[in-house]
Amino acid sequence: MKKISLTGIKPTGDLHIGNYFGAIKPALELANEYDARYFIADYHGLNTMKDPKELSSTIRHVAAGWLASGLDPEKVIFYRQSSIPEVFELTIMLMAFTSKGLMNRAHAYKDAAGKNREKGDDTDSGINMGLFTYPVLMAADIIIFDSDIVPVGKDQEQHVEMAQDIAQSVNANYGTQVLKVPQAQIQENVAVVPGLDGRKMSKSYGNVIPLFAPEKTLRKTIMRITTNSQTVDEPKDPDTSQIYQLYKLFADCGEQSALAARYRAGGMGWGEAKEELFRVINRELSPVRERYDAIMADIPSLDKILQQGAQKARPIAAATVKRFRKAAGID
Ligand code: TRP
Repeated sequence: MKKISLTGIKPTGDLHIGNYFGAIKPALELANEYDARYFIADYHGLNTMKDPKELSSTIRHVAAGWLASGLDPEKVIFYRQSSIPEVFELTIMLMAFTSKGLMNRAHAYKDAAGKNREKGDDTDSGINMGLFTYPVLMAADIIIFDSDIVPVGKDQEQHVEMAQDIAQSVNANYGTQVLKVPQAQIQENVAVVPGLDGRKMSKSYGNVIPLFAPEKTLRKTIMRITTNSQTVDEPKDPDTSQIYQLYKLFADCGEQSALAARYRAGGMGWGEAKEELFRVINRELSPVRERYDAIMADIPSLDKILQQGAQKARPIAAATVKRFRKAAGID
């Protein structure tokens, strides 16, 4: 039997090429090797997104984004967290095995509390219980599908370790392996994608290249990449140029060495380098954008795909809850 890989996708607006190379592509590759279960973590989204229109459209945006990028719903169980009520039942059960101190140590909570203290505000100002107990819900997401590995970025490693701790406390209490203990798979060797200003591409820095922008916007965004003041004639170093770092992600080996040679020879200005970059990005993203637009033009079909995923997922989730309830004496 194949091992199970599971990951949650937080609904965030404006998927960008940092997400594409850092999360989407590596997870889709793992789906060839593992029995993959990927879901939209929409109740996690509720902790921060209180505008119903925004949450609803963001959920569809990320779901369509993953499908357009090549997620095959026949191969991957792809669903919305909110369609699996058993996840929330398991969350409550796991709460009984989670010490409050463990939650106090979670980075997301600690950061928010630390910022409050710095500002002289009350420690818990603006922090809801959803944020505070986030790691328990995430543990339930993971544990309910008997996950072996959880591909996540480094920032989520602590959450997966908490899921391990919680599952182990349950197993230790009942003296048998009621719940499978998951392992984080930290995506170390994925490319760090530089943003427009050369820092890591991130929504919070406002330096992203969106995945599904229309061609014109894509081109304009690429033209905004910051460069130094070297003249056209000057030879340039490809390795310190974020234009070239981005180019490498989209170009084949021959194209990469050809452009590097043009950089080093001099005579090519930044504008021209950006045109080359636009050409290769647009080549890869045009079909993805077309699929995305087609999916977003037919939301009922998108919702049906997610519903069908949920239908496959629910019996697995129900079996875990049943096993746990039996072990717990709530049978
Ligand atoms: N917390 C993750 C993030 O912020 C999203 C997430 C929710 C998740 N549940 C999960 C990831 C379960 C992996 C497994 O990106």
